[in-house]
Amino acid sequence: MSAKNSKSAMSRRTFIGIGSAIGAMAASDSRPLLAQPRSSQPVVISSGNGFLYRNGGSETCVERAYRMITEGNDVLESLVAGVNIVELDPEDTSVGFGGLPDASGNVTLDSCCMHGPLKRAGGVAALQGVRTPSNVAKAVADLTDHHLLVAEGAQDFARQMGFQIEDDLNTERSRQRYLEWRRRIDPSHYPDPNRQAKLNQESIKKFTRNSIKIAHEMANEGLIDPEHLYGTINCNGINSNGDICGVTTTSGLAWKIPGRVGDSPILGAGLYVSNDHGAAGSTGRGEANLYNLASFLVVEELRRGADPKDAGMTALQRIWENTETRLLSENGEPTFNVNFYVLGKDGRHAGVAFYGTSNNGDQRNYAVCDENGGRHEAIEGLIR
Ligand code: GLY
Repeated sequence: MSAKNSKSAMSRRTFIGIGSAIGAMAASDSRPLLAQPRSSQPVVISSGNGFLYRNGGSETCVERAYRMITEGNDVLESLVAGVNIVELDPEDTSVGFGGLPDASGNVTLDSCCMHGPLKRAGGVAALQGVRTPSNVAKAVADLTDHHLLVAEGAQDFARQMGFQIEDDLNTERSRQRYLEWRRRIDPSHYPDPNRQAKLNQESIKKFTRNSIKIAHEMANEGLIDPEHLYGTINCNGINSNGDICGVTTTSGLAWKIPGRVGDSPILGAGLYVSNDHGAAGSTGRGEANLYNLASFLVVEELRRGADPKDAGMTALQRIWENTETRLLSENGEPTFNVNFYVLGKDGRHAGVAFYGTSNNGDQRNYAVCDENGGRHEAIEGLIR
């Protein structure tokens, strides 16, 4: 780390440290929590892919969701219709149909949603065979007394609810990327499935390290989008009544150990919504977010009166403090990224991340749609 970077990282830490201290005071004293002013302007925000993919149509996720909200549709219904575009678009290899599969070659999907005014939530994890897991998550919220269904149970539920179940959600692209990953991780055993090594504890650790390393290698070679390694879309919106909802959907970590579930379907981790205070959702390394239930923390910070950017930065700081040494660089900085998309009750919003720019300096963005139309806005980085 250069002296300049070291100094700015230090001052940021000092600043965040003071911010955390103030937050802790607010949490421990007996002052009433601030009432949040209400927005009268609808707005939809999402991860950057929500203003990128159109699945061959004319609208992006945030544009469709905003249009539907302003036409008077239910906010959650509108957001789910928005993320369906990205789930169905095979070009986004981190969400829904055509998502990069797990280590066995199966596309397994995670999603959850929260309806602020109705105080309903639903999620599915490790779901196979349904292109739009967000719709199944919404059906769990609308039709059951449960909040999370997983694996075969989630698929059985989807089948009973009339969703089409497909044998394989791979596209030719995701299948080819998978075969390339298999060739690199296991050259001696590939392609004979009968010769796969039995995974003991050591080989699982080695497998995970190698898998991430190979994924980064393939991203550097342009074979996969580096943003699709963990991928995901989170989308949050508010209407003119101040009704707030959110949804998150993903194919999860590329080539994960089968059965791995990330943060996306977990309430408080991949998404949290309070109709009184705001919504937050996340993309990036799910394990980091799961350990801290950081979307819940962001909304708690909104409840204490923080603005969306500071609320997100506090959660990032917490994740950093709770990161294992093996995941920190020699400068003590996280070797992974986590992003939060934060929407306040007053309609203000922010996108924050450890790294707001990529290694080669490209600005990372989140998506917004309001009365000024759809656009990308810059993600603010805690570190860079
Ligand atoms: N954030 C998506 C995942 O880790 O699965």
